Amino acid sequence: MAALNTSTQIAVIGAGAMGSGIAQVAAAAGHPVWLYDARDGVAEKSRQQIRAIFSRLVEKGKMTSEHAALAGEALKVATALEDVAQAGLVIEAIVEDLEAKRQLFSELEAVIDPRALLATNTSSVSVTAIAAKLEHPHRLAGLHFFNPAPLMALVEIVSGLATAPDVAQTLYETAEGWGKKPVHTRSTPGFIVNRVARPFYAEALRLMEEQVSSASTLDALLREGGRFPMGPFELMDLIGHDVNFAVTCSVFNAYFQDPRFKPSLTQQELVMAGYLGRKSGRGFYPYGPDTEAPVIAELPIQPAPSVVIIEGDLGPGEALVSGIPSSIAVKRSSGSGVIRLEGCTLALSDGRTATIRSAEDDVPDLVLFDLAFDYGKPGRIAIATSDQASPRSLQIAAGFLQSIGWQVSVVEDSPGLVVLRTVAMLANEAADALLQSVASAEDIDKAMRFGVNYPQGPLAWADRLGTGYIYRVLKGLQDNYQEDRYRPSALLRRLASSGGSLQKA
Ligand code: NAI
Repeated sequence: MAALNTSTQIAVIGAGAMGSGIAQVAAAAGHPVWLYDARDGVAEKSRQQIRAIFSRLVEKGKMTSEHAALAGEALKVATALEDVAQAGLVIEAIVEDLEAKRQLFSELEAVIDPRALLATNTSSVSVTAIAAKLEHPHRLAGLHFFNPAPLMALVEIVSGLATAPDVAQTLYETAEGWGKKPVHTRSTPGFIVNRVARPFYAEALRLMEEQVSSASTLDALLREGGRFPMGPFELMDLIGHDVNFAVTCSVFNAYFQDPRFKPSLTQQELVMAGYLGRKSGRGFYPYGPDTEAPVIAELPIQPAPSVVIIEGDLGPGEALVSGIPSSIAVKRSSGSGVIRLEGCTLALSDGRTATIRSAEDDVPDLVLFDLAFDYGKPGRIAIATSDQASPRSLQIAAGFLQSIGWQVSVVEDSPGLVVLRTVAMLANEAADALLQSVASAEDIDKAMRFGVNYPQGPLAWADRLGTGYIYRVLKGLQDNYQEDRYRPSALLRRLASSGGSLQKA
């Protein structure tokens, strides 16, 4: 089935934040659009706001005045559900409540054409459950836009158990025609993004709770080392802790309290205090006119070593070598992939703490460095020393990394440090979603790139680092905590043994 023709009438039910955004997208794409809201005046207000947005886009040169006029005129307010009887697609964006959604769709079925398609913008209610009471459940699918809908590219096309494949495909192609990046997914808790992204917040919260570093330093490391567009704490402050905590609790409960999704007491405390983030003027950070920039832990410049010995292949960290300035003599020898620096050993984390690795591998004065998205482009990097190491080791290791151009933040010794731990846990969740056929590998990565703007899809990222390596990092986390939360996905375990790729699994 092809995309819906732009002459197809679209009805959007619920003209709140999401419904208004979706109506704007559909009208800009050339469809006649009906807006309906149960509360008097809300749909009309939304229509005025969308028209005002179109005018601003014309002023900014992002829309022609002809296009804006046509799109503005295409928006109509429905005062009763009967008004939308001719719609070929009805998109529901009302309150997040199963019974309210079921009630609405059953009322709609009584007035619309039996061939019309039905879509829900739900982010946490089962699409299968919403469709279950319909006369024609095969024609309902999820059409999950992200907030704000006109700006966020991703749309998850969610198939419930009864959804007909051609209905999902029509919605996919229609969303693509509207300029979006659609993905197919099955109706499972959190779909793709709200599930796979959970560790981004959860691991950061845990690192802070265990005093590995401060929120501002962890944010800076994930931004400037991991190349995530925002750090987890500033992102939670932006989303709102009430919303973010509710999503985590919803996914946790929907997966029958799987410890992998366990909510954080720290975040619950913020919600209870009313420190909801930007919208309430305070979250992890204070917001206000006189607010000072948060302090990021950073080691002052240390003396650079004169000689380094690279033993073996540094694996993902190999690109560091090309950045070493000519003032430092570089020698290479065979070995286990470590950097020897005048009395200290520097190595990329493998998921074990520096303290445990130092003892197990019998390496005194061990300093570990974190994963970076691109070791060839210096930013910020975390290092940690083993408990056995001399304080001087830290300075020597920092001096070396600083000589290449890295800003160094020292964190407490913790398994997988910060960026590596986050990426490994994201890849683990993505691998399990793939194993459970929630979506294809390509769509999982596409969803994470366009739904939350990660610099690379977690599956492609894990493949680039090596599935065997990611598996070892997860084993390190699991050994350290002895918790089911860190159990590696069975798919990663299998691929680690064969050297296989998640993207091709
Ligand atoms: P909202 O509260 O801003 O808007 C909901 C609108 O629906 C309100 O104007 C309300 O009057 C209207 N409404 C409620 N019951 C109705 C009914 N039976 N018939 C007609 N209109 C009714 O909510 P928001 O944020 O726009 O969310 C709407 C849906 O989109 C929810 O299912 C939500 O989970 C989902 N969603 C929300 C996202 C977000 O970030 N806000 C992101 C993605 C999905």
